[in-house]
Amino acid sequence: MTDNQLQITNNQLPMTLLQVQDLTVYYGMVQALNNISLVVNEGEIVALIGPNGAGKSTALKAICGLLKATEGEIKTGDVTFRGKSIKNVPPHDLVKKGISLVPEGRRVFPTMTVLENLEMGFYTQFSVDSSQLSDRLNKVFDLFPVLKQRRKQRAGTLSSGEQQMLAIGRALMLKPKLLLLDEPSLGLSPNYVEDVFEKIKEINKNGTTVLLVEQNARMALEYADRGYVFKIGEIALEDTGKNLLGNDEVRRSFLGE
Ligand SMILES: Nc1ncnc2c1ncn2[C@@H]1O[C@H](COP(=O)(O)OP(=O)(O)O)[C@@H](O)[C@H]1O
Ligand SMILES: [Mg+2]
Repeated sequence: MTDNQLQITNNQLPMTLLQVQDLTVYYGMVQALNNISLVVNEGEIVALIGPNGAGKSTALKAICGLLKATEGEIKTGDVTFRGKSIKNVPPHDLVKKGISLVPEGRRVFPTMTVLENLEMGFYTQFSVDSSQLSDRLNKVFDLFPVLKQRRKQRAGTLSSGEQQMLAIGRALMLKPKLLLLDEPSLGLSPNYVEDVFEKIKEINKNGTTVLLVEQNARMALEYADRGYVFKIGEIALEDTGKNLLGNDEVRRSFLGE
């Protein structure tokens, strides 16, 4: 093989951004994950689907360092980000490395304005250097014009769809390499569900890799490059979003067919 051919081959290999390897997690005596492995390549949208209690949120928490806060513990296995172990690294350090989570249920600060919520997102990382603040704000406002419109409004007065946009915008203030989203469409009206996914697609096109957990399996798989199907603490299936949408078991169990 010539150098040139080698170069081409290398360019075609997906770059692994995140790797979860043989991960087993317990909450006290309760086992939530049993030896799961998954990868997220740079530039992808990856979806985790599966029934309630299957361990999807636990997987996200293990990745972004929030397990400890919920009394969870990694018993065996590892999580690596850009080739380095991030197991047991605290959340604020993971944010600095470029991993940002939009938690389930949005959790914006209801009595603070939209703008204050976004600034809070920014200052969790850059407590002193505020030179980039307006640049980040503008990027978020470009993506979500409704947030610009409502920037002086208290977050609690926004619709749930707008609150979800705000929660995503707040995570984007940290300019993540990897954006984790836990149930972004939960509780949204059908119109907003599609809006949120369209925004996620746009964020991804702008260069952010996305790992999301979703109840709305159809929507998630339509937008995801690849997906993993969880089943009581294990991964039962993995494939491209398209193939999973056509998979008989997935159709019966998650797509109501
Ligand atoms: N903080 C916790 N303490 C004890 N058990 C938990 C906790 N969080 C989740 N679990 C348990 O871990 C399992 C996986 O939960 P979770 O990751 O939330 O699933 P999913 O997100 O797929 O619905 C479930 O059996 C759940 O009851
Ligand atoms: Mg969950």
